[in-house]
Amino acid sequence: MSLEKFEWDDKLSVGVHEMDQQHKTLIKKINALIDTLEGGDTGKVLSSFGELAGFVIQHFEEEEKLMEDAGFPGLGGHKLIHKNLLDQVGGFKGEIESGNLDSKKLVNFLKFWLTSHIMGIDVKYGEHINKNAA
Ligand SMILES: [Fe+2]
Ligand SMILES: [Fe+2]
Repeated sequence: MSLEKFEWDDKLSVGVHEMDQQHKTLIKKINALIDTLEGGDTGKVLSSFGELAGFVIQHFEEEEKLMEDAGFPGLGGHKLIHKNLLDQVGGFKGEIESGNLDSKKLVNFLKFWLTSHIMGIDVKYGEHINKNAA
């Protein structure tokens, strides 16, 4: 099985340094997960998946705090989208545990999420923060 790794691209920048750093860490953890998926050891897949999921939770909390502190009006909607993503991530955990994981589906989901969520949704708080700072 050959799964494509992700690479950071400056197009993914939201204009907030700390969040760009966290998104880069997300990409690293997704790539580590891809390595274990290629290896096919369920225990290792679960552990790298757990690492990624834990970081996603932490990242969402920090992002929400940043938006709150900045008085970002889209906070409520953004929180709902985060919650929905976490529910989907939880579903994949069940699939790994039961041995029914479709690795390609998981990697495609993560890739779609990274690009569409960061470039379509996260950029909005970046615009808000940079506009208010100017
Ligand atoms: Fe977000
Ligand atoms: Fe984000």
